[in-house]
Amino acid sequence: MCRACTSNLSHEAMTVEEAIIFLDNLVYEQTEKHLSRLQQSIIRGVVGGLTYKEIQQNEPIARGYTVGYLGRYVGYNLWKELTKVLRQAEILGQEERVVGANLWDCIMRAVQQGTQPAKSVDPILQKLLRMRYRIREHLVSTEYSDTYLADDENLPDRPLCLVKRLKSQSERTSYLFDRETRVLYRLGKHDRIPELLARFEEDGYFYLVYEFIEGQPLSQELIEGKPWEEHQVIALLQDILEILFFVHKQDVIHRDVHPQNLIRRTSDGKIVLIDFGAVKEINTSQNSIGQTKSRGGTQQDYIPPEQAMGSPKFCSDIYAVGIIGIQALTGMQPKQLRVDNLGNLIWQKNATVTPQFASVLDKMVLYAFPQRYPSATEALQALQNLGVSSQ
Ligand SMILES: Nc1ncnc2c1ncn2[C@@H]1O[C@H](COP(=O)(O)OP(=O)(O)O)[C@@H](O)[C@H]1O
Ligand SMILES: [Mg+2]
Repeated sequence: MCRACTSNLSHEAMTVEEAIIFLDNLVYEQTEKHLSRLQQSIIRGVVGGLTYKEIQQNEPIARGYTVGYLGRYVGYNLWKELTKVLRQAEILGQEERVVGANLWDCIMRAVQQGTQPAKSVDPILQKLLRMRYRIREHLVSTEYSDTYLADDENLPDRPLCLVKRLKSQSERTSYLFDRETRVLYRLGKHDRIPELLARFEEDGYFYLVYEFIEGQPLSQELIEGKPWEEHQVIALLQDILEILFFVHKQDVIHRDVHPQNLIRRTSDGKIVLIDFGAVKEINTSQNSIGQTKSRGGTQQDYIPPEQAMGSPKFCSDIYAVGIIGIQALTGMQPKQLRVDNLGNLIWQKNATVTPQFASVLDKMVLYAFPQRYPSATEALQALQNLGVSSQ
């Protein structure tokens, strides 16, 4: 039944699907990320009065997940994210929260308020941080950070750099801040990981300054309905895996490999891996810091099940790489892909691919992590063998 029909607000005609699109636009305005298909299924189900068990049974995309995962992970993080978005849009008060039960009413309040409030001018623009970094323009806002382009006024020709300001000022942020900088320090200098130039706290905010990578995020190259050719996909995966080979060798799992964290550098067309905010050192990957096991706003479609459960492995990064490969090869968004009853993706009929490469990709994205390539070393090797045999 259409819940809109029971609403006493002035948007009786709005269907659930229209409401989802509305909400998705609102989320995108604020986070530059769309709701995933799984999140949309949860919204559709909850608004329709279904339990998570019923959602799992009725929504094809939810079928590959356990009820606990849908409720405790996807649903939980979704309400958290929507609460944040609706508070920021001044639709909810600071004390109010989105939960399944009031979701429809929250959406209707948002619809009634109409468009999002005009963006105010960010006071940080033109500011000089640390007597050194002049903020020039706002680049991207994510759930976790705002990134700005800045001039380094201490150096000749004032080279550009990237200033990342973490949104939250909590103790937890301080932990992430510390971890990101320590991991980057440990990764040292690699040509395809941006160099960390400075870290500091100012006016209560945490800042990281990076070498600016001029280029385009990979997400702009992965266009729906425009599949890549196999040799292009192989080259892309090799490019990404070369960086992960280095990262894994340092005992680090990136944990957030997705097309927005991969930048194609303009100068040489190579891929650069950014955003080590979610990485974890291997020896702490199964510790008790419960909240670290997921980042609500990360691109969930690239996260394998074991990572979603809080136990990322090296091969969790490989899974993400495999999904990117399949996305490129099929021209489909990962969320559009179906899974079989073992939880493995069904994608080959949507792609033109040799059986050899298909089996490498399949092995990268296996639901069961012990059967995947254990780390970038083995995955890279498999791709290289492919190159040898196809020549
Ligand atoms: N070194 C960099 N050079 C160029 N753009 C960057 C750089 N670091 C981040 N960005 C841009 O800023 C966005 C957010 O940065 P990121 O480190 O991914 O933060 P978050 O943890 O909030 O996702 C990236 O998706 C990218 O578009
Ligand atoms: Mg990111």
